[in-house]
Amino acid sequence: MPNAYISGTGFYVPPRVVTNDQLVEEYGMDTSHEWIVKRTGIEERRFAEEGVGTADLATEASRMAIEDAGLETGDIDMIVFATLSPEHAFPGSGVYLQRNLGFADLKPPKFVPALDVRNQCSGFLYGLATAASMVQAGGVKHVLLVGAEIQSAGIDLTTRGRTVSSLFGDGAGAVVVSPTDEDRGVRGWWLGADGRFADALSQKVWDVRRRPFLKVDAEGNGFVPVEDVWAHMNGKVVFKHAVEKMILVMMQACWEQKITVKDIDLFYLHQANMRINQYVAKQLGLPDEKVVYNIQKYGNTTAATIPLMLAESQRDGRLQRGMKIALVAFGSGFTWGSAILDW
Ligand SMILES: CC(C)(COP(=O)(O)OP(=O)(O)OC[C@H]1O[C@@H](n2cnc3c(N)ncnc32)[C@H](O)[C@@H]1OP(=O)(O)O)[C@@H](O)C(=O)NCCC(=O)NCCS
Repeated sequence: MPNAYISGTGFYVPPRVVTNDQLVEEYGMDTSHEWIVKRTGIEERRFAEEGVGTADLATEASRMAIEDAGLETGDIDMIVFATLSPEHAFPGSGVYLQRNLGFADLKPPKFVPALDVRNQCSGFLYGLATAASMVQAGGVKHVLLVGAEIQSAGIDLTTRGRTVSSLFGDGAGAVVVSPTDEDRGVRGWWLGADGRFADALSQKVWDVRRRPFLKVDAEGNGFVPVEDVWAHMNGKVVFKHAVEKMILVMMQACWEQKITVKDIDLFYLHQANMRINQYVAKQLGLPDEKVVYNIQKYGNTTAATIPLMLAESQRDGRLQRGMKIALVAFGSGFTWGSAILDW
């Protein structure tokens, strides 16, 4: 059985920077740069322009990842797309990415499968476990795995929604997962979920338990009540469980790999909140220079966070061949996961 390794990385963030001060000045939100930085570490985030879709961000990141892997589009055998902010209820973003990348225009056309992963902030790790398993089993060779989000369309950018909307940003990260006979790659992955907290962080724009699934007014027009439009979060419950589960799943990874955190060169913790990560890092005894952060400039980009950090740290030289790295995430569901890789 071959090892599965990340043969290429790519990222894309929309050009429009929105600072904390702009949330106040442009959106009229009653908040402040000091409040957001102190509670979350976020200084700015990116927002995509209206008309840009999640798969559009993913397309740019994917092109970069495919090129970085030394491959061409036609070498990709499967797409795995993790997002909580797909263009539509269905189909998922995976097929839009496949269309954008032009698989049908290849000679001969290549109708690669496109799998959509709905595990929010843990989506990239759920996707990595899936992609690595399929590559190792020999079912496919090169998997394009993407995490991409357009959060800015689904958050209430007024004072009413500030607890949630000051946290999130848009962006995309992509990797190619490939087989290798070299002694490297994904050493293991650990996933978990606790559906008892499914409502603690959710967006319920539609509800198929209703007939019809959208509410209808007296004239027969469908409408969504404003409280259903936006993402909702019980911040304190999320915080508590995030800390607990990220520590747990990191320790589980070390235990099963028979290593300690000292053996790991770089830690990629999902970027939900700087305070969560600092607490996790302190509890696990991780030195600051081994922990990668990007929350200051992008906020929480959910499924895109970890591949974005991988791609950027590879390009700035921090992530080097031969390093042992740990990926850890927690998010809505609740879902969580970790993975250990030799780069
Ligand atoms: C969201 C979070 C920063 C809020 O911090 P907190 O200390 O729990 O703050 P609270 O929600 O108790 O709110 C405290 C006050 O600050 C206010 N507040 C919330 N967001 C604010 C903002 N952006 N600016 C100013 N004030 C804000 C609240 O309205 C509340 O005011 P009140 O006391 O008058 O009602 C924190 O709970 C958190 O980070 N949770 C985890 C979130 C997360 O990681 N989500 C993604 C998981 S993948």
